[in-house]
Amino acid sequence: MFNTLSIKLSAALVLLFLAIGVVLVLLTRYSSDMYYQEVTQRLNTPVAMYVAGEAPLIENGEVNAVALQALAHQAMIVNPSVEVYLLDPTGRILSHDLGDGALRRRHVALQPIQRFLASSTGLPLLGDDPRTSAGKKIFTVAEIKTGDRLEGYVYVVLSGQKYDQIATSAEASEVLRLTTLAVIGCVIFGLGSALLIFGRLSRRLNRLTANVNAFHHGAMGSPPPEGHRRQDEITQLALAFDAMQARIEDQVDQIRETDQMRRELVSHISHDLRTPLTTMQGYIETLLLKDTEITAEQRREYLQIARRHGTRLGRLITDLFELARLDSNAIKPQLDEFSLAELVADITQEFRLAAERKSVSLVVEMHGQNSAVYADIRLIERVFENLIENGLRHTPEHGRVTILLDGYDEGVRVTVSDTGAGITEEALPRIFDRYFHAPPASPSGPESTGLGLAIVKRILDLHRTAIVVSSRLAKGTSFSFELPRHAAADSGRC
Ligand SMILES: Nc1ncnc2c1ncn2[C@@H]1O[C@H](COP(=O)(O)OP(=O)(O)OP(=O)(O)O)[C@@H](O)[C@H]1O
Ligand SMILES: [Mg+2]
Repeated sequence: MFNTLSIKLSAALVLLFLAIGVVLVLLTRYSSDMYYQEVTQRLNTPVAMYVAGEAPLIENGEVNAVALQALAHQAMIVNPSVEVYLLDPTGRILSHDLGDGALRRRHVALQPIQRFLASSTGLPLLGDDPRTSAGKKIFTVAEIKTGDRLEGYVYVVLSGQKYDQIATSAEASEVLRLTTLAVIGCVIFGLGSALLIFGRLSRRLNRLTANVNAFHHGAMGSPPPEGHRRQDEITQLALAFDAMQARIEDQVDQIRETDQMRRELVSHISHDLRTPLTTMQGYIETLLLKDTEITAEQRREYLQIARRHGTRLGRLITDLFELARLDSNAIKPQLDEFSLAELVADITQEFRLAAERKSVSLVVEMHGQNSAVYADIRLIERVFENLIENGLRHTPEHGRVTILLDGYDEGVRVTVSDTGAGITEEALPRIFDRYFHAPPASPSGPESTGLGLAIVKRILDLHRTAIVVSSRLAKGTSFSFELPRHAAADSGRC
């Protein structure tokens, strides 16, 4: 509430009013003081001349104290604030009528006296006040001369101690009280008007901020943080704008990335599909053109090659579409609880014949009783198929492909290992890349697409689990990953 823009602006304005008020009071007091001093000094300029001209106050260096007292007394009757002094030509005080012990200094500076005598402009002019050790007061002065010889000065302080006493008590009472009241009145008036004006002006800004916050809520799915809402309207707008800018930039990046991936995919697909298609077309055309020239054996061979490439084409299309769907996030894993042991038993059944044909033994080992996991059964089935297929493909006769299920409290660790050809150290980090085939002349065959492990990795990514591979050349390869038993705390994740 106190953080709103109108309150902040009003507070700033009040502080400004206060500062201006204080400066105004000080300025008024200073200028009225100066004005008073100038007028008083001008008005009383003849007083010193009167005292000096009325009677000879110094004769042949002798002070006429009686005459001075009488004249000073007269002057004080007319104006009680004056104090009369008799100075010698060096400024030393020769006599006065203020009684003993009244003075704090015995000398008066001559410079202001000479300036006063030389010109009547530049008033008020301050001279030394003998009743204080460092104070200055307005004064009037007149020379005392015998013929051309300067005998001394009559030096009259115009606002002496009496004036100070009266001025101080008056100040304490009326002037200060009135000025303070005026300043307080101005500040209250300023605050009231400022609140009214700024409140009206910031109403539309409030509405805009509320709309932006509502939009932020809708776009981000959560209201702006509490800290943001405690800021004033402009800061809230700036923060919401920053958040939205970051989100728009993110989305534009995502769109660019998806677009790039789509382009790459289309170019890969068109390239990969073209190769087997052209080969297939080539053999079929040869068959048609040389129908009468070729032997039955050659025809059969050509047809088998065409069929193999047809199968490869079919697999490529299936794999590419699967990968495209996994990449585009169109597939959300349908997580459910199922028995991994049962799934593995079913899958190995499918591969049994192929394994026997190659004289490779396909073994399933289960450690622990419980093989229940929480995952997408169809996607995990695909993972097993790809890994077992690879194992069988790269394991020579009399070798072994083992599927080990190791149950523990939180989940099941799966290891698919073989006693096959192994993968070189250089190739190992790249085997999950699309279209990658490890260099040793692997018995991949034309139906191999190089997409199997990319699909495996993507599926396990979607399950938020990692796949680890280890391999030794001519010894074998093993892939392992873990599946959880229960739904994760943030099960809305996939
Ligand atoms: N068990 C394994 N033993 C030895 N090499 C392997 C093994 N599994 C994968 N590889 C190597 O990794 C490469 C990539 O495997 P991936 O499964 O992605 O493709 P593929 O098996 O060649 O083709 P597809 O799986 O699409 O038929 C393979 O070409 C092979 O060189
Ligand atoms: Mg494969």
